[in-house]
Amino acid sequence: MPSGPMDGLRPETLALDGGLVIDPVTGAIQPGVTMSVNHLVVPGEGAFSAAELGDIAGEPFTYARWLNPTVRALEARMAALEGAEDALAFSTGVAAMAGVFLGLLKQGDHLVISDVTYAGVAELARTILPDLGIAVTPVNLTEPGALQAALRPETRLVHCESPANPILRLTDLAEVARIAHAHGALVSVDSTLATPVATRPLSLGVDLVIHSLTKFINGHGDALGGIVAGRREVIAGLRGRAGVYLGAAMPAMNAWLILRGIDTLFPRMRQISETAGRVAAFLETHPKVTRVIHPGLPSHPQRDLAARQMDIPGGMIFFRTADPRGMAARMAARLKVAHYAFSLGHQRSIVVLLDTEEMMRGTYRLSPAQEAAYRDYAGAGGFRLSIGLEAAEDLIADLDRALAD
Ligand SMILES: Cc1ncc(COP(=O)(O)O)c(C=O)c1O
Repeated sequence: MPSGPMDGLRPETLALDGGLVIDPVTGAIQPGVTMSVNHLVVPGEGAFSAAELGDIAGEPFTYARWLNPTVRALEARMAALEGAEDALAFSTGVAAMAGVFLGLLKQGDHLVISDVTYAGVAELARTILPDLGIAVTPVNLTEPGALQAALRPETRLVHCESPANPILRLTDLAEVARIAHAHGALVSVDSTLATPVATRPLSLGVDLVIHSLTKFINGHGDALGGIVAGRREVIAGLRGRAGVYLGAAMPAMNAWLILRGIDTLFPRMRQISETAGRVAAFLETHPKVTRVIHPGLPSHPQRDLAARQMDIPGGMIFFRTADPRGMAARMAARLKVAHYAFSLGHQRSIVVLLDTEEMMRGTYRLSPAQEAAYRDYAGAGGFRLSIGLEAAEDLIADLDRALAD
């Protein structure tokens, strides 16, 4: 795994070389893709059941749902980038969250989760976990004292997301880790919108960092994937339970595509973040735009935390206009450079309206105070804009055309 020879290299270099193994047979420098589902095994060696092994990652390759060489190379690369001892890949980002929740929590346990997260994760925590006897409390982690008040003797995990999709509210990860650890709970963070270019949560005390690799890390909109990185023994436990038995293994071809995406992660993210800063500044001066949220803007309500916790502000913008539904129809019809679509973190810019009423009905279960705090950012709804690699001038002109009467 990545420690040892890779120690001391900068993250930009680790994005290329973390865990890279030169093919001993062919000498190939680029990672290959191993599509084989199975590998030769030695009769009598190893175990048939994953339950009889400790750390499966220390065993020879046997069957691809347990461990595949190309997926393993991706895990090594991500572990190196996050400064983690190990990492475990899943077929999607949501599978990685489900793997963490179902791998760590059991009936009677309590999960504290940020009241605002990516919709799929909020819905998973709200619907499936309580059915399994796992208590879930959504908490606004920016509210002083709220985390402390929510903790119970049976709280095992505090899960946050920073910046949170869609409103780009940040969580003070070092502070959450301090409070949760004093209580004996683990902390996980969905760092998809930050990427390791902006934030390395493990260095702030977080136990598990989770990414949807589908987004900026792959960056090309052509592969789903998820990953969780952390301490060796925690990842080994998750691999044996959730990795093997949930069956959400990452396909080898996706691992290969995502590895190739990571090669250019740093220059891509820096370019995207710079463009996002220019587009956010333009939107803030536009007469049709009533509010812009971007961690790099001086107007971001947590600008000091953003400066402390994020090396770059990142590629996401949230903005509001009057008549958001009418504006959404205009954008879908008029945009020529950006695309009106779901997802984010691709090479092409993507924008979509997130209607607050719909989010409250289908996704979140918030207290009146939590809903008011959400509406303080989002109003009746706003546009989630994911910046791509287009020229900033072209994107600004495109948005200007779409926003016009
Ligand atoms: C912050 C965040 N986490 C997780 C996910 C889920 O990722 P996936 O679609 O790979 O399951 C998304 C998807 O939009 C997301 O934005």
